[in-house]
Formats: sequence, C-alpha cells, structure tokens
Amino acid sequence: MESFYITTAIDYVNGSPHLGHAYEKVLTDVIARFRRQRGDRVHFLTGVDEHGQKVQASAKKRGIPPQQFCDEVSAEFRALLPKLNITNDDFIRTTEARHQRVVRQVLQQLHDQGQIYLDEYRGFYSTRQEQFLQDKDRNPDGSWPEIYGEVTEITESNYFFRLRQHQEWLVDFLMQNEHFIFPAYRQKQVLEFLKEPLNDLCISRPRERLEWGIRLPFDENYVTYVWFDALLNYYSAVADKPGVWPATIHVIGKDILVPPHAVYWPIMLHAAGLPLPKGIVAHGWWLQRGAKMSKSTGNALNPLDLVAEFGVDAFRYFLIREMNVGQDSDFTLEQFMVRYNSELANNLGNLVNRTLNMTTRFAGGVVPAAGPDTELEQGLRALWAATRDAFIPLCEDFQFHTALERAMVFLTETNAYIEKRAPWKLGKSAAPEDAALLRTSLATMAEALRLAVTLIQHVTPATADKVRAVLGHAPGPDWKAELDWGGRLTGAKVAPALVLFPRPAPPTKP
Ligand code: MSP
Repeated sequence: MESFYITTAIDYVNGSPHLGHAYEKVLTDVIARFRRQRGDRVHFLTGVDEHGQKVQASAKKRGIPPQQFCDEVSAEFRALLPKLNITNDDFIRTTEARHQRVVRQVLQQLHDQGQIYLDEYRGFYSTRQEQFLQDKDRNPDGSWPEIYGEVTEITESNYFFRLRQHQEWLVDFLMQNEHFIFPAYRQKQVLEFLKEPLNDLCISRPRERLEWGIRLPFDENYVTYVWFDALLNYYSAVADKPGVWPATIHVIGKDILVPPHAVYWPIMLHAAGLPLPKGIVAHGWWLQRGAKMSKSTGNALNPLDLVAEFGVDAFRYFLIREMNVGQDSDFTLEQFMVRYNSELANNLGNLVNRTLNMTTRFAGGVVPAAGPDTELEQGLRALWAATRDAFIPLCEDFQFHTALERAMVFLTETNAYIEKRAPWKLGKSAAPEDAALLRTSLATMAEALRLAVTLIQHVTPATADKVRAVLGHAPGPDWKAELDWGGRLTGAKVAPALVLFPRPAPPTKP
C-alpha cells in the first residue's frame, strides 16, 4: 500500500472562510478520495495559520486577546469542513503545542548548524500599520500612501536564515525533478525567479513590535516570522507519526508558490536534513468580475450560502467541473445555474428519474436480468469502456474538469439510448422479443447509472451514496472492480423515486 500524504495551505484566521478557501479544500478532498479508493494509505491534513501581525491586529480591533480571537475564527474554518464533506484526517492550528515544539526544535537545530545568524535589518516602517513597507507599496510618484501615516527608515537587529547558500542546490533539484510543480509552466517561473540572487530570509520579529508568534528558542526577545512558522505545519503535524513524512502533494494557490512554497520551504527542509515533498499543485484563483475573490476586496462569496441553497454535491461538482486546475475562473451564479440545470438536474437527475420510474412501472421495482444485446447496447458499453479508461488517467493528471466532461457525455448518451430504445413503447407490446428488449433496456440504464455515479464518486460522494441506495446496491471494497460493466444489479429492489437536484424556487418578485 502506497503512503499518500496530502495537505492544503493553512488559512489565515483574520477573516471568515470564503469560496476560494472552500475550493482548495474540495480540490484536495477530491484528490484524497481518488487516491483512497485506489487503495493508497492516505493522510489528509488541513488547518489554520494563527500567528502574525494581521491576526494580532484583527484581535486588537475586536478588543479581545489574540488566542480567544483565534479560537473563534478557527472554529468557523473547522466547521466548514464537514459541511463540504471533506475527509481530512487531521486539522492543525499553529498555536497548538505540538506545532510550536517542532518549530522551536527546527529553529534551534538550524541555529546550532550556523544556518541562522543575527544581523541588522534596514527598511521603511509604518508605525500606524506596524509593518515594514516595500517599494511596491509606494505611490507612483514615490510617496507613501496616506494609510501608512508617518513612514521612517529604521534599522533593527534580526535573525536571518541562509537562503542564498542553498540557491544552486535548489536550482539543481528543480532541474532534476521536472515534475515537482504542477502545472509545469509554474516550475519554469520558479527557475526564472531563481536567476536573480536570493536574499537571506529575515525569520524574526522583535517582540516589542509583534508579540503574537512563536518565541525563538535561542533569543526570547524575538518571535518567529509567520511564514517560517506556518510552512512547518506540514511536518509538525506528522513529526510523531512514523512513515508519513514526506508529503506527497502540497495543494496551494498560485499566490503562495513563489517564494514561500517553492523556495523557502524546500530550502528549509534541505538545510534541516529532512526529505522533500514529492510535489506541489498550485491552483488558480476564483475571480469575481475579473478580480481575485478575497475578504479584503469585499467580493468574497460565502460557500455555505451556495451549499444551503443547492446542496453540497452541486457545489463540489461545479467547482471541480468549472476550474481547470492551475488556471483562474470567474465565478458567476449564471454559470453555476447552467451547469446545475443542464448537467446535474437534466442529465444525471433525469437518468435517475427514468430508471426508477420505469423499473417500478414495467418490472415491479426489481432490476431484471438483461435479455440479448443489440448494437445499441454494445455501442453504449463501448462508450463506457472508453470513458472509464480515459477518466482515470485524467484524474491522475489533475484534469478533473475534462474527466467530468467525459462522464457527462456518457450520461447524455445513456439518456439518448433510452430515447432510442423507448422502454415505454416496449412495455405496451405483447411480443416476447419486445419483452426481452425491455428487460435489456431496464438492466442497461440501471447499470449505466450505477457505473456513472461510481466513476465520479470522489467529486459527488453523497450523490453516489444516494443513487446506490435507491438502486438497492451496496458497493464492494474494490473501486476499480465496481467500474466493470456487469450484472451487479440483477434482482435489486429499487426505490420508486428520488429527487436529487430539485429545481430551485424561481426568484420571488419584489
Ligand atoms: N496562511 C497562508 C498560507 C500558509 S501555508 C503554509 C495564506 N492564507 S490565506 O488564507 O490567505 O490563503 C489560503 C489559501 O487559500 C491559499 O492557498 C490561497 O491561494 C487560497 N485562496 C485564497 N483566495 C483564493 C481565491 N480567490 N481563489 C482560490 N484560492 C485562493 O496564504
């Protein structure tokens, strides 16, 4: 059994979760479920990033201690997971003792090895915002924006991690591991970034400026820079679980690839003598009218509203069907409704209705054994074989949107088969060959439905369970074997009806 350790980014708790956060969890869950059903030993970690300036400032604004603030917001992030049907094995908070212990251990080790040194840091500092500024924060005319108040150039002692020393090693590593980052063009961007010499990384913040962080083990006057702390969550969560580290895949958004995940993280591990993850998947952004959906721009959608209105599987299906992993996608309710109506309600929902309704009307609610096949059934079976054979490698390559498109084609063709075969006509005929064809058609549509929901069950798990329940089918443990076209449903007692994707109520007139 292969060990498969998968992680998401850990979310900042300075605001409530939005659709972008939910997408990353769903995408990671789809990969985790896919690997689990293929027999891998999956460990799935997600969590929250609780330290740093932003969190300290948000707590201050609310007038409560940072820990209390973190407890409240983290609970919100955690509560989202079961609502999205996420199958994480663990949830880490960076304020937990198990995490802080490992961060301090790694810092101490790197300090002992001479990888961390004390130096002067010079920069422009905004007292009002309590942060260092960069040139990109300036107005086009070179002045500082109003929000920063008075900006002064200050010099401060800080600890630095020797990133520069490992730059050539990282370039070699990326050249030798061409598929380390998905999509491949992102790996090229990292190599491009590494053409410029790296600066060593400032990994400390003086406590008089920032209290809310993990104290440096070798100097109590400082706390750890939030990224150095946060990245280590992937390791700290499993440090005492033998055989889990290294991670197989870190799933993250493209905004936190360079430099944190593609530069700092591999170098931190390498310097500490720890094995590197096998890969990084960098997904794109959900946009609204072209702008990144985020709390600060005020265009964030609450995923729970969509789940409440359309159900968890419609939400999961849309995110995975619409987004080409790595690229950006604009979220519109219109597009959501198009996919909901045409693919889920009309295509899948319709097949469910017809199968249950006709089996009930023409076979007393029991799936009959198939009679002889005709070209029509053979054609549908051939399409099934091709669909399944293409679907699995597409999922392995994170091409879930195309995989789902293929599954939809199979469902469309199954509905077309029913139209052509017209069991409602066969049911009225007294000819014995029509009775045999009727049995074949009922067995065929039930089997096609069972196969289709089993194929996409990592995306829409609740739907697969519901459909199998109304088909009277309990799946075996071997997912791949379940994808073989066979007579698994012969004799199964089906339920008379199931409304899977109800038409949403039309908007009420004001
Ligand atoms: N705390 C850091 C990550 C530390 S990982 C060691 C952070 N947090 S975040 O809350 O800002 O973002 C968490 C994840 O959500 C990131 O991977 C980010 O890319 C993703 N998303 C946030 N907004 C997004 C969209 N609008 N669309 C898709 N995902 C985006 O960064």
